[in-house]
Amino acid sequence: MDAIRVRGGRSLVGTIPVSGAKNAALPILCATLLSDGESTLRNVPALRDIETTSALLGFMGRRVSCAPPVVTVGSSGPVRPEAPYEFVKQMRASVLVLGPLLARYGKVRVSLPGGCQIGTRPVDQHLKGLEALGASIQLSHGYIQAECARLKGAEIVFDMPTVTGTENLMMAAALAKGRTTLVNCAEEPEVEELGRVLNKMGARVEGAGTHVMHIEGRDALDPFDHAVIPDRIEAGTYMVAAAMTRGDVLVDGAPLEHLEALAAKLRKAGVEVSREGGGVRVRVPGELRGVDVTTAPHPGFPTDMQAQLMTLMTLAAGRSVITETIFENRFMHVPELVRMGANIEVHGNTAVVTGVAGLEGASVMATDLRASASLVVAGLVANGETEVRRVYHLDRGYERMEEKLSRVGADIARVRGAEG
Ligand code: EPZ
Repeated sequence: MDAIRVRGGRSLVGTIPVSGAKNAALPILCATLLSDGESTLRNVPALRDIETTSALLGFMGRRVSCAPPVVTVGSSGPVRPEAPYEFVKQMRASVLVLGPLLARYGKVRVSLPGGCQIGTRPVDQHLKGLEALGASIQLSHGYIQAECARLKGAEIVFDMPTVTGTENLMMAAALAKGRTTLVNCAEEPEVEELGRVLNKMGARVEGAGTHVMHIEGRDALDPFDHAVIPDRIEAGTYMVAAAMTRGDVLVDGAPLEHLEALAAKLRKAGVEVSREGGGVRVRVPGELRGVDVTTAPHPGFPTDMQAQLMTLMTLAAGRSVITETIFENRFMHVPELVRMGANIEVHGNTAVVTGVAGLEGASVMATDLRASASLVVAGLVANGETEVRRVYHLDRGYERMEEKLSRVGADIARVRGAEG
């Protein structure tokens, strides 16, 4: 397994390019199952999750060319409407084939995603919505089996905003008969982006990105050619890295309009965040101050940025109280940061961070994609060398992280085949 080795003490100066959004590309690739013909997705990041999704579509019988930043998916004969455990265990977002396969082929068999390190990750809202559209669903031997000759539009109210739940139901409703109303939808930019693509395919989706959506089902949809939006979480991670090292960085392509909650907290902490060209410039003119953060569904503060902001707060003056409300176990970065000298106390879903003068390099690892990224960020300023192990977690969501950081001055390298 590879590791990332970083020596702290360098300020980041220069420009970091932002890649396309992983969490937009994944549902859009699954949406190719809704139509025949060849679809093209551009600005796709070169990530493991993209490879996994491409392999799953190939397993189903689609003709896939995965050559990031371009991925094409064509239809070449019958599709096997199945997502076996071997794929879903690698990436729980494989559950996003559920809605399109059921809507298009009338039956589907998808392994239950199961939990992961950050939480149990249930899919009850996905299943409740599909049943409301007329599907009969059985759970057996760890698989979801769903059938319905033709889905029929309905009104569906989610018990809580769920990103992939909203996306699954959007894709199912796009081929259902009649009108579907989705209430209490997730409002993430990636959901809005899926709505744009479904409309390019000939669907009638209104309100994507807001809490109520209306979808007129069609009898058939067309393939698409689309360039995916930039990755707000990758961008936010590099904004925090720039602030952490008190550097001066232009995060090129950063979608500030999708990062308002993060920008507000960074500014309150004393970070200068300004729009420049097609991106965001980040500097720290003075002292970093502790700020309190509570994660929430978009447009609230994103859970996917919680670990990164906590890392910044370990060196901020005073205290910051960080509360995680989305997932039940998303503090796995805390013990590793404490081993690096951070002062963090966890009480349930709240972490109290008291700023310290500096961090010490150490060998660390985390099992959550964003927690791993936050440990690299910590290593950028820690005294000495930090080795972040099991970077396959990192490779799921960050394209060429060590390359992008070394180009702005970080002393960082990938160590191939390091011990796990
Ligand atoms: C998406 O996961 C993202 N993944 C996650 O990003 C992100 O952390 C999460 O949304 C929250 O923003 C993708 O888009 C591929 P949810 P998702 O359904 O859709 C509960 C990353 O780092 N819930 O919005 O799985 C759930 O337990 C990943 O890129 C149910 O109870 O998250 C959680 O508490 C990590 N029942 C809350 O809702 C359901 O049926 C939000 O989960 C569905 C969800």
